[in-house]
Amino acid sequence: MKTTFNLPQKAGRNGLGAGVWNLGPGNDPFGGPTREAIPILDRLPILAQAGMTYYEAHDVEIPASQVGAARKRAEEVGLQCGMYTPSFFADPIFKDGAMTSNDLAIRKLSLKNALAAIDSAAVLGASTVVFWNGREGFDFVLTKNGQEAFKRLVEGFNLVGQYARERHGTSIRIALEPKPNEPRANMYLATVGEVLYLISRLDPSHQALFGVNPETAHSRIAGLDYLWDVEMCLEAGKLFHIHLNSQDGQRYDQDLPFGYTEPLKDLALLVVLQDAGYENILAFDIKAPRTDEPKHIADIIEVSAQNLVWLWERALAVDRAVIHQLREEKRNTALAGYLGKCLYGR
Ligand code: GLC
Ligand code: MN
Repeated sequence: MKTTFNLPQKAGRNGLGAGVWNLGPGNDPFGGPTREAIPILDRLPILAQAGMTYYEAHDVEIPASQVGAARKRAEEVGLQCGMYTPSFFADPIFKDGAMTSNDLAIRKLSLKNALAAIDSAAVLGASTVVFWNGREGFDFVLTKNGQEAFKRLVEGFNLVGQYARERHGTSIRIALEPKPNEPRANMYLATVGEVLYLISRLDPSHQALFGVNPETAHSRIAGLDYLWDVEMCLEAGKLFHIHLNSQDGQRYDQDLPFGYTEPLKDLALLVVLQDAGYENILAFDIKAPRTDEPKHIADIIEVSAQNLVWLWERALAVDRAVIHQLREEKRNTALAGYLGKCLYGR
């Protein structure tokens, strides 16, 4: 067994995580799979072998009936469930949204699935349940009433929060994950700012259970700076989970290896996380490219983890006093240069 990746001096939970969906068969909207699909539970040993400590899964990947088997398999390979999430996007019934669907029966089904996911997460030992906005949104204007849709989200999450608190106290926390578009043309909860606004509108007695899972690529697709998105979550005390990857600018969601496209900004991100004493899990949301051979399917996990560990070590070596001094001297460009010096190891 390979050694697991760890981040020196990280506060709180150490080790890294990745999703079982990251090891898919390589299909994209233009072509079918290029590899045989690996049964979900067989992906756990691959993640462990690639040096992960945590795995993450959707309810459609590990349904309630499989939770016991997943727990056992994970224990055998030394993995913990870092996060569990209800899929509000895979089943065609959710084609026009789940909590924001115009169809009451579909909204009820989504609530039922959400509550079941909370209980499954507890059995799996996951302390975080993520809600990605998925298909909550619209492709054509006026097909939903936006104000109504927002109210449905508030009502839905209030019920989820109430259930989680009654059943599990504070042991399960809920992290909402924003994305601006894809699969929908326009998505509700498009940005970290929108998610924080939604949380501020929840019943105050449930708000503490809700936070954010910001993903690098999702901020960059929106043309926003990921570091500022993360800083906003930190300022609000709402950075519950993190999905790291990278992205070539504003285009379709790529889920590229962490550290590949904007390493200098990733370095700055790690400086901020270190200084904030970020205690929760760092996980990757990356996609094994369809060009990778089956036997190399975990390359993307290992490349991301290695980049992260190297950047983390470089971030520890960044002299905070130099940053402070350059800020005082109003030398913004020189500060960018100092980060480059740290990144390039000079
Ligand atoms: C989907 C999304 C991903 C999200 C995950 C969990 O796979 O692409 O960004 O984190 O679901 O809901
Ligand atoms: Mn994600």
